[in-house]
Amino acid sequence: MAVLGGLLLLLALLLLLVAGLYCCYVRRVHAAYDHIPGAPRESFLLGHLPIFWRMMKKQEFLHDLFLEWTKKYGPIIRVNAFHRVSVLILSPEGVKEFLMSPEYPKDRLVYGRIFNLFGVRFLGNGLVTDRNYEHWHKQRKVMDPAFSRTYLIGVMETFNEKAEELMEKLEEKADGKTEFSMLTMMSRVTLDVIAKVAFGLELNALRDDRTPFPHAVTMIMKGMTEMRIPFVKYMPGKQKMIKEVQESVRLLRRVGKECIEKRREAIQSEKEMPTDILTQILKGDALEETRDDENILDNFITFFVAGHETTANQLSFTVMALSQHPEIMERVQAEVDEVLGAKRDIEYEDLGKLKYLSQVLKESMRLYPPVPGTVRWTGKETVIEGVRIPANTTLLFSTYVMGRMERYFTDPLCFNPDRFRKDAPKPYYSYFPFSLGPRSCIGQVFAQMEAKVVMAKLLQRFEFQLVPGQCFKLLDTGTLRPLDGVMSDGKLSLAMHRAAALFSPEVTERPSAAASCTLQRRTVSPCSLSQTHRCPLGSQPGAQVRAAPRREGTHGKVHSQILAVPEPSPCSDGWQLQVSLIRAVNSAYSFWIVAQSFHVCEEFPVGFLSSFLC
Ligand code: HEM
Ligand SMILES: *[C@@H]1O[C@H](CO)[C@@H](O)[C@H](O)[C@H]1NC(C)=O
Repeated sequence: MAVLGGLLLLLALLLLLVAGLYCCYVRRVHAAYDHIPGAPRESFLLGHLPIFWRMMKKQEFLHDLFLEWTKKYGPIIRVNAFHRVSVLILSPEGVKEFLMSPEYPKDRLVYGRIFNLFGVRFLGNGLVTDRNYEHWHKQRKVMDPAFSRTYLIGVMETFNEKAEELMEKLEEKADGKTEFSMLTMMSRVTLDVIAKVAFGLELNALRDDRTPFPHAVTMIMKGMTEMRIPFVKYMPGKQKMIKEVQESVRLLRRVGKECIEKRREAIQSEKEMPTDILTQILKGDALEETRDDENILDNFITFFVAGHETTANQLSFTVMALSQHPEIMERVQAEVDEVLGAKRDIEYEDLGKLKYLSQVLKESMRLYPPVPGTVRWTGKETVIEGVRIPANTTLLFSTYVMGRMERYFTDPLCFNPDRFRKDAPKPYYSYFPFSLGPRSCIGQVFAQMEAKVVMAKLLQRFEFQLVPGQCFKLLDTGTLRPLDGVMSDGKLSLAMHRAAALFSPEVTERPSAAASCTLQRRTVSPCSLSQTHRCPLGSQPGAQVRAAPRREGTHGKVHSQILAVPEPSPCSDGWQLQVSLIRAVNSAYSFWIVAQSFHVCEEFPVGFLSSFLC
């Protein structure tokens, strides 16, 4: 008995000693970083974590807090959590130094966490997560040709085909009853595109939402959000979800494997091969002494994860922003009409002419970057903006915050595509939705071509409008893990993509997964349509927007810009003009889309119709 008591006492003393030593260590860490400005710590050990936890509970977006902080504490800010200190860098000087150089690797803790997903190999050492410069560089060099402009021009056909399918789907839903999610539709089209272009796979996510592959991708995205919940692995209520996520990752890897084997056979029998991403990956692998099939599969998954939801979010945000700014919508529609008219297939040359649309897409990513930031690690001491940043520190970057800072953008909360006019000064290391430097997005041009094709077709045929009384707010749906409250922002970027795209009224309840809409087909004379309201952007960070009330019977002007009217021509079997009303009904977000679908002789530019009718 006495022995046991003694042992227990010893154990207690030992614990006390360890706790004491740990506290001393934390104190030393504090001392090493406390010269860096930052919000007061709420607790000695937890640091700023309690603040993050409270925000997460309220479904608030962590980057909005950073935006507040930078107003008080400047562009270099310290963030404490236990013995770890990260430094938020919101200065162009810092962005340039750390992102443009290969010297600062991605942070191990953040990116290492997605090597596996619930124990199943996930992104592994794929292009996004690879932290070894040599290995990454080899992979990147091998894949670059698949993203060259010349190759991408050939991909226009696929962009057109899939975007056209989306348009068909949208019109199909116009029955006034069917509820659907805009973000989901965008995700499906981008998923179909990446599968086809990168790996030659016809997924048909748009046509058939029951096929297992798209579902698996959705589950994986969900898994990436859920894994941020502390101890989720041990929660009985989550076991089913975890199993499904694991199964989904395995399914993706299995499909990838089949896909790779097929392609290898084809290469061997010397059939003609597309220069797609898969061919590039296999070529690269053939140069290696040892084949690394697992690494190839890492990249297979990486492209699905990195290449579809990002673009889908950008598209959804752009639809939202345009709905809020009728005058901008009108201008971009006019451009689309001028460049495309009623043309169905968009050509590569057309993309260059859609200048204002490019500006709109860029501006949309300034306020709503699908990937809000990135994370680096520095192994050496650096001085930025006169602040000494110690070696061995995690660095956080946020294009979301910098895009909303008055210091870098005048009237930052105002959605104004003219900021990106050709003759306007370029943002100086304060805007990086695709990141910057060696680790910037390989799919940037790809994504912007795809986004333009989809948006141009959408604008050519549909009109959007907000339902009255809505309040829009960016949401971070994920629950961050306590130990990495701050880190999880960078986490990736990828986990946050989906979060950032949710719009929700300003409520505390959990947002529903995505906006749902119903479509209704209607015949309305365009003459009765007149533009009514503008939606001022709220002054709150987080861009809460309240739309003005929708007046009865007005659905927005349809193509006010009348193009050169051709001679009224003998289009003998006549034409019909249909204006469909798409209504979004959902507590999370909703808007009206007035859709036009034309069954016309192809020669007539869109503007002709409205002018004729009126
Ligand atoms: C609007 C759409 C997109 C946005 C906003 C976006 C944004 C980004 C960002 C910010 C990074 C850096 C991530 C980090 O620092 O951890 C990145 C990397 C990457 N993205 Fe994208 N991306 C988009 C579309 C795409 C597409 C369509 C593809 C594939 C076809 C793609 C493939 C990749 C890959 C492979 C990387 C890793 C690059 C490397 O480290 O070498 N992305 N993207
Ligand atoms: C940084 O870490 C390395 C290795 O982990 C170590 O050798 C070095 O002393 C550390 N530097 C500082 C300033 O803590």
